[in-house]
Parts: sequence; structure tokens; C-alpha cells
Amino acid sequence: MTSRSPIAPASAPESGDLPASRLDPSTATPNADWWRTATIYQIYPRSFADANGDGMGDLAGVTSRLGALQELGIDAIWLSPFYTSPQRDAGYDVADYCDVDPLFGTLADFDALVAEAHARDIRVIADLVPNHSSSEHPWFQAALAAAPDSPERARYLFREGRGEGGSEPPNNWRSHFGGPAWTRVVEADGTLGQWYLHLFDSSQPDFDWTNEEVHDEFRRILRFWLDRGLDGFRVDVASSLVKAEGLPDFTPSDDDEMPPYDGRPAVHDIFRDWRRLLDEYPGERILVAEAWIKPLVRRADWVRPDEMHQTFNDVLDVWDAAPLRDSIDGALTAFDAVGAPTAWVASNHDGVRPATALMLTRAERDGGLGPRTTGIPAYDVSLPRARGMAMLMLALPGSVYLYQGEELGLPEVTEIPDSARQDPTFFRTEGEQYGRDGCRVPIPWESAAPSYGFGPGDASWLPQPAIWRRLARDRQETDPESTLNLYRAAISLRRSLGLDRGAIEWLDGYPPEVLAFRNGDTIVLANTSTEEVPLPTGEVLLASAPIEHNVLTPDTAVWIHA
Ligand code: BGC
Repeated sequence: MTSRSPIAPASAPESGDLPASRLDPSTATPNADWWRTATIYQIYPRSFADANGDGMGDLAGVTSRLGALQELGIDAIWLSPFYTSPQRDAGYDVADYCDVDPLFGTLADFDALVAEAHARDIRVIADLVPNHSSSEHPWFQAALAAAPDSPERARYLFREGRGEGGSEPPNNWRSHFGGPAWTRVVEADGTLGQWYLHLFDSSQPDFDWTNEEVHDEFRRILRFWLDRGLDGFRVDVASSLVKAEGLPDFTPSDDDEMPPYDGRPAVHDIFRDWRRLLDEYPGERILVAEAWIKPLVRRADWVRPDEMHQTFNDVLDVWDAAPLRDSIDGALTAFDAVGAPTAWVASNHDGVRPATALMLTRAERDGGLGPRTTGIPAYDVSLPRARGMAMLMLALPGSVYLYQGEELGLPEVTEIPDSARQDPTFFRTEGEQYGRDGCRVPIPWESAAPSYGFGPGDASWLPQPAIWRRLARDRQETDPESTLNLYRAAISLRRSLGLDRGAIEWLDGYPPEVLAFRNGDTIVLANTSTEEVPLPTGEVLLASAPIEHNVLTPDTAVWIHA
């Protein structure tokens, strides 16, 4: 068998005269259940494309680059938060849920983005952040100004402290970003007063979801965006909205024990309510949960028929056959049992990028990577695993989420100096953890342009590394062996071969470090071993690295027509 280049994808129409959209919400739904097999592309607006040159990506930038996503073959985009926000957690701290932050543009820019995406048959999902608001949200400002036990404070979780004079936090919960999950306020008379709960940064106070006002407000927010044509929501921290009564201390006895702010049964009533609301709208609007609940069988509760449509599977972030197989089997079994599709994901804006991560153990990369980290693999050594993982993931039935830049094989940016860091994790751990900036660096479009085409000038809110020149999209477009062309081919073949609608059957006869399964007429192999593996008979449809002498080299995946 000879080496073979990835198959060139079908060309997509240029912008300009666009055909009538299939996504017009006023029409019937030609793509009923579209979300069951959708390839959904996560856009991190700060870092995707900057139309006005201020160094921060914006909605007009997204609109201007939708043609590239249409060519990639995706079905929908998920926009990370673009709402009014002081940006203490990159927009996951929302001060006004029904407006666009001037950093990103205006509501008119949002409308233009949705119209252009729909004209290109791309649906639009946006992040919704219901666990907490920004401390600059008018409700929280009113709560600070009001007295303990007031209706204003009852929208959040204010409590008296413990110990003498209430000087200790009300319980022992820790913030996900480091430090205690409680901050004490200064009351109107200047004395130290109550504490408020924040599972994340102190600028992100948690709502009290036992308060009916909070429910009403989020129903209003959902309708606001659905009325503007949004196709759904990725629900941030969906599992933590409801806390255990009495907010008890938590000392886990093992890693898998769920804390008292995660996965409480009452949280499901909220999503049933939202599902009914979404179902009033035409066009199959969807809810996607971020709910890292363990074990996976419990996570399936989030996607029962009357709740959310999808919840992310565990991130496919190790290049090791046994845990990968467990993760795949676990997800298929758990989600099949409730009739939901799996939502595969190999990266997002919170984790080290696969083109670096897959050479490291979780312990080596948890908390992020930076200039003082040792043992970071060279790019050319680590990229093959990311390409192999992409082909493995895109061969699995269900829906797939891609994170911007994954299709370019971008590595984690580790050389960001401390002085340029932005992630609250870095500050709350006093630099002990680098945090997530390394996967959020503005992405490269044109190798020879200032800011690699991210914006019209040099400005970029995080410094871009020199390797962006080599990995820019324009370079990859013309290189048949590029990671971009591998993704294009895999996304297109995934649909034409029916892998997205299929079912997998594991194949015997391969070494344990090789993942081997059949999906319809396609045999999929991913070699996580250090040995070459002979290929079965059949036509090679696509491979993550050149195939020679009829063997699959280590760190390579292949699709074969059986
Ligand atoms: C988001 C993070 C964010 C956090 C708090 C998440 O899980 O993905 O980026 O920092 O929620 O909103």
C-alpha cells in the first residue's frame, strides 16, 4: 500500500450571494435532530478574529471569518461569553446578560453574525452563565448596598461567618481557582459583615437558585436570545446551580466523591423547565451541559429526554488505549441508555491544547504550563498524537466539539511571561498554577500579516508565539498534508461514510495498546503503542500520517474501507 494524502474536501461557496438558508426558524425543520450528529466549533471570541484592531477579538471579526468555518464543514458554532462584563474571568463574569460588551461589539453585530451564520447553514449556540454573575451585576451591587436578610441579598448566597465575630468563612469550600470560596463584605456602617459564596473568583458571586426571582430572570434571558435567533446554549457549570441545604462542609474521602454543590437532584427541575421553554421555539434549539459529574452514568441524567440535549463526555485527553476505550464505552453506554447522543471533545478553552497535552500525564499538565515548566515536548514530536486523536474522535458516532485552533494543530503557548498573564487562576494561586492562558492565545490566519491576521495591526491581548507563522491557516490551506486539511477531510468523510450516525464494534486481534473498531463499513485503528502494527486488508480512506509498507506507525490513526 502506498502513502496517501488526505482527501480534499468539497469547496464551499464564497460569501456574497448566499442561497436561502435552511435554518430560517420560521420554516419547518429540515434537519430535525441536527444536534445528534453535529460537528460544533467553539469560538472563543477574545481570540478568534479582531475586526477593529484593538487586540481583542470581536463579533464582527467572527462574522468576517465564517467562510473559513463553512469550508471546514462544521454545523454550528458555540460562542464563549461576549456579554457585558468586567472580564475578570474572560467574560464568564457577566454584568448584563442581555447585551454585548463594547469590547466585542453591539447587539447589531450579534444579529449580523447570526444572520450570516444562518445564511451559511451554520447554527449559533452561546454560553450561558447561570451559576454566578459578575460582582458588577446590578443585582450584586444592590445586594452589597442592602442589609443582611434583605430580598436583594437573597438572590445570592450571603451567610454569617463562623467563629468569634464571624471572622471565619461559613464553611470550608474552596474556590475552583484557588483560595476560599467565600469573601467577607464591609457593611454600610463600615463594619465587617456577612460572607458571600463564589465557587470561582471573588468577582463571580453564586446565585441562590432556591430564589424564584433567579428562575424568572433566567427565563427572561433565555427568551431574549432565542427571540434573536440563537440556536441554543452551552450551560456553564450546569451541575452546580443547586447547593446542598445548609451548605455543609466538604471533606472528600476519595477523588470521585461529588461535593455538596455538584449534581444535586433539584438542579434537574431547572433544566426541565428550560427545555419546555426552548421547545416552544421552532428549529430545534438546544441545551448543552457543562457537567463534569462522576460517574458517567449519573451524567446521563442531564440528557434524559425532557432535559438537556447534550452533555460533554469526559475530555479525550490521554493518548492511551485502555483509558480511551473505557471513556468511549462508558459514554456510549451511559448516553445510549437515555437515548442521548454523546458529545465528544478533545479540547476547550480550559485545558492544555492536545498538540502539547497528549505527550504529558494529567499530573504534569494540570494547572497549566509556562516558561518554568520542564519537559514540554517539541512540537513536531507531539503533533502526531493530536492528529491521531482527531481522527479517532471524528470516527465516533454522535456529536463532536472542536475548539478553535485545534484544526490547525496549535500547541499550548507556554512562553507567555508572568507579566502578560490574565487567568484568575494564576493570581489566586500566586503563580503556582499558570492557568489557562496558553490555550487562549489569538489564533493565526495569515502567516505574513501583522498579528498573523488575527487583526489588522500588531495588537493581540496575549502575545502570539513565532510558531504561529508556520501554522497559520493560509499556509495550511495549500498544504495537502496539513492538519487543517486532515480535519476538513475527516469532517467531510465522517458524514459521507455515516460514521456520525453509526455504531461501533470493537475488533479483536490487535495489541492492547491499539484501539480498533468498526463503524459501519469503516475500520478505525489508533496506535497508542510504540510498535508498528500491520494493517488489515482494505482501502485506506484517511490516515493521520503517511502509510507505508502496510503498517500503522506509533501515534497514528487510520480509517480503512473494509
Ligand atoms: C468555564 C470556565 C470558567 C468557569 C466559571 C467554566 O467551567 O468553562 O472558563 O472560568 O466556568 O464560569
